[in-house]
Amino acid sequence: MTEQNTAADAPQEPTRESTRESARKSVTVLGLGAMGTALATSLLAAGHRVTVWNRTPHKAAALAQKGARQAQSPTEAIRDSPLVLVCILDYADIGPLLTDDGAGEALRGRAVVNVTNGSPDEARALAEQVTALGADYLDGGVMAVPEIIGKPQAFVLYSGAKDAFEAHRGLLDAFARSVYLGSDPGLAPLNDLALLSGMYGMFGGFLHAAGLVRSAGGNVAEFTRELLVPWLRAMADSQLPAMAEQADAGNYGATGSNLAMQVSHDAIGAVSRAQGVSTELFAPLWELMKRRVADGHGEESIGGVLELVHPRGPRSRPAPV
Ligand SMILES: NC(=O)c1ccc[n+]([C@@H]2O[C@H](COP(=O)([O-])OP(=O)(O)OC[C@H]3O[C@@H](n4cnc5c(N)ncnc54)[C@H](OP(=O)(O)O)[C@@H]3O)[C@@H](O)[C@H]2O)c1
Repeated sequence: MTEQNTAADAPQEPTRESTRESARKSVTVLGLGAMGTALATSLLAAGHRVTVWNRTPHKAAALAQKGARQAQSPTEAIRDSPLVLVCILDYADIGPLLTDDGAGEALRGRAVVNVTNGSPDEARALAEQVTALGADYLDGGVMAVPEIIGKPQAFVLYSGAKDAFEAHRGLLDAFARSVYLGSDPGLAPLNDLALLSGMYGMFGGFLHAAGLVRSAGGNVAEFTRELLVPWLRAMADSQLPAMAEQADAGNYGATGSNLAMQVSHDAIGAVSRAQGVSTELFAPLWELMKRRVADGHGEESIGGVLELVHPRGPRSRPAPV
């Protein structure tokens, strides 16, 4: 006779509610400025149990109304969750936050994910401090502004304890795509700053271009929409991958647009001066391009300027991926 399952011991079909409940995790957010609030809001929207703490308590009120539990101290907040997300203004203030009033003891066995912006050395030092307290440490670089947290464009760079990243990735994905760079905690801040450098270069280019267009009475918005953005997209897609390969190889071989040709006339400088547009944004790059040609590399691509920015040689730090 075959054994029949009774209704009570028969495997239950997971309901939508039970699936949601099992995917629900507990997370603590310390720091509710613009970014911490956006992260906590996104985690709540994804259905997680969120405990929040902020130095100025009233900033937690709106999140509490949405279902977050407001803790009275960092220690109380840390005790609530296996994962502690830190997002405050300055690195220097994180150490005391994670150690004062028993917080350090409460951290044992938990994971700290710190998305406060800092330097690679600050990340490594904090990782040592947190690890010595018996917790895992991941450093994070948020590549988003608060308004796009939870949207497809947002991503966060992580580096540090890989096991912790893998254990908590599902939860971290709630507010942005997660990108793990490696076990050195300094990798996330270094790559974060590299990406910001690229962004500021683009902003500098925009500002100079806008100055030229405005000096001739043009409409900057129309110019940007119709011409500049398509141009920059085309240049980024067609030029940057090849330049990046040259950078890794240290070989900046001749291209259709060699550097000597590019510096043969100071057209941008001359026209800018004639139009009353400052050349302060463009001049530093221009000077490096000329110096590279003067050093005998005129037949190479503009990528060779990298050798003046950071010459190839033994690395003092792990390379960004
Ligand atoms: N906003 C962005 O677009 C963006 C993007 C990427 C990364 N980030 C990074 O995210 C971090 C937070 O930025 P944010 O935009 O949220 O800044 P914010 O709006 O100025 O908020 C700063 C937060 O830090 C807290 N804080 C400052 N000093 C503190 C201390 N000594 N002890 C405890 N808490 C302290 C503040 O608490 P109070 O409310 O009590 O003052 C507040 O919660 C920064 O490292 C920033 O670089 C921000």
